Amino acid sequence: MRTLSLSLVLALALLLGALTPGVSAQDEPLRMGLLPILDVLPFYVAQEAGYFEEEGVELELIPVSSALERDQLLLAGEIDGMLNDLISTGIFNQDQTRIVIVALARKAYEEAPQFRILAAPRSNITIPSDLVGKEIAISENSVIHYIAQRMLEQAGISADDVTWRPEPNIPVRYQLLMEGQLPVVVLPDPLAQAAMVGGAILVMDDSSLVETEFSQSVLSFRKEIVDEQPEKVEAFLRAWMRAAEDINADPEAYRELWIEHTNVPDSVKDSYQLPPFPTYAITQPEAWEDTVDWLIEQGIIDERPAYEDTVDPRFIEAIAPESVAGDPEAGAAVYVSLGCAGCHATEGDTVMVGPSLAGLAGRAGEEVEGLSAAEYIEQSIVEPDAHVVEGFNPGIMPAYTGLSDEDLANLVAYLLSLD
Ligand code: HEC
Repeated sequence: MRTLSLSLVLALALLLGALTPGVSAQDEPLRMGLLPILDVLPFYVAQEAGYFEEEGVELELIPVSSALERDQLLLAGEIDGMLNDLISTGIFNQDQTRIVIVALARKAYEEAPQFRILAAPRSNITIPSDLVGKEIAISENSVIHYIAQRMLEQAGISADDVTWRPEPNIPVRYQLLMEGQLPVVVLPDPLAQAAMVGGAILVMDDSSLVETEFSQSVLSFRKEIVDEQPEKVEAFLRAWMRAAEDINADPEAYRELWIEHTNVPDSVKDSYQLPPFPTYAITQPEAWEDTVDWLIEQGIIDERPAYEDTVDPRFIEAIAPESVAGDPEAGAAVYVSLGCAGCHATEGDTVMVGPSLAGLAGRAGEEVEGLSAAEYIEQSIVEPDAHVVEGFNPGIMPAYTGLSDEDLANLVAYLLSLD
């Protein structure tokens, strides 16, 4: 049985002339359609912290129960923006720019995949090559279908080596997997983790797509909103990014809010680790072009919506905190004056009290998920026990909390310059 696809809804909406832009006066709130999924957590964090008010934007959060409902509301002009994905964006914009992506909302990380290919409990499907010839249940023509196909291709399995079985209802897919009635399904976290707790076998996840950022969700608005009320969009994004930073700094503090507002299976309420949220980032051309390639290959759309028309990086650029460009030479002097050299070598891999800092730039970006090289180094200095280097003990390096922003930026620049 096929469900009504977005393409069809779009065709109907066009036919009925439902696409007239909603009247949106300047003092109206921004209406956002929110699925009960993990990705939308920053909306609730920002709301609870009062960030929307502080940034001077009124938001109306409108819960929706399915992507289809969300998309219909958007087409009818009843919501102004939403959290969605690249596949949905490509379908919306197939023949004209209806929505514009203004920021990345979530993406797969090494330790925090978004989608997993799971085999039924007690089945003998355990590794990717076991999937050949099997039936894989997905939501057809959705981001799940796309990401599943790209995961398989990473493992050298082509889309034609398996049978794709449409089963659009995610809870049903979960249920049929657990009962052994579906051999293989694709599910998003945290439901996928709940399945694993219940005995489902993890075959693959989208951490193999971390580099390409194919697996991502985005914040997008109707084009009229972006064109006519850019200041509202910008204020919204400031609040969102503050919330995302709060979650990254202390994920545990938001567990309750996450459980309250999204669908969280009981079995993983306490164990699921909240993922990092990307900040001040936006969809890159590579991910967009790959999404469009897939939509065209699948015959879902005929024309290629251009990256420049669909993705607008202006807002993120306007609000990203200016990174204080440090001066490595001044940083070298700070390094000496603070006595760092008493515990760290800066050449070779000599271990003094602490590890050698040679080549730090090359590895610092991979130490802590969600932290860039500069952020990791800064954290190492200000809060050394937040992440302790393997093979060393906490509590030895003093926390340098009293440094001026300038000294800190210079010090980070110096450490980044060590080969
Ligand atoms: C008393 C000795 C001591 C002093 C002084 C000290 N450190 Fe450390 N440092 C350590 C130890 C031990 C570790 C490893 C344990 C940890 O991660 O906290 C470390 C870890 C680090 C790391 C992480 C390295 C990596 O490979 O990931 C950085 C960066 C760093 N220190 C920079 C500094 C800077 C900059 C200073 C001066 C402002 C400094 N340290 C002063 C002992 C010291």
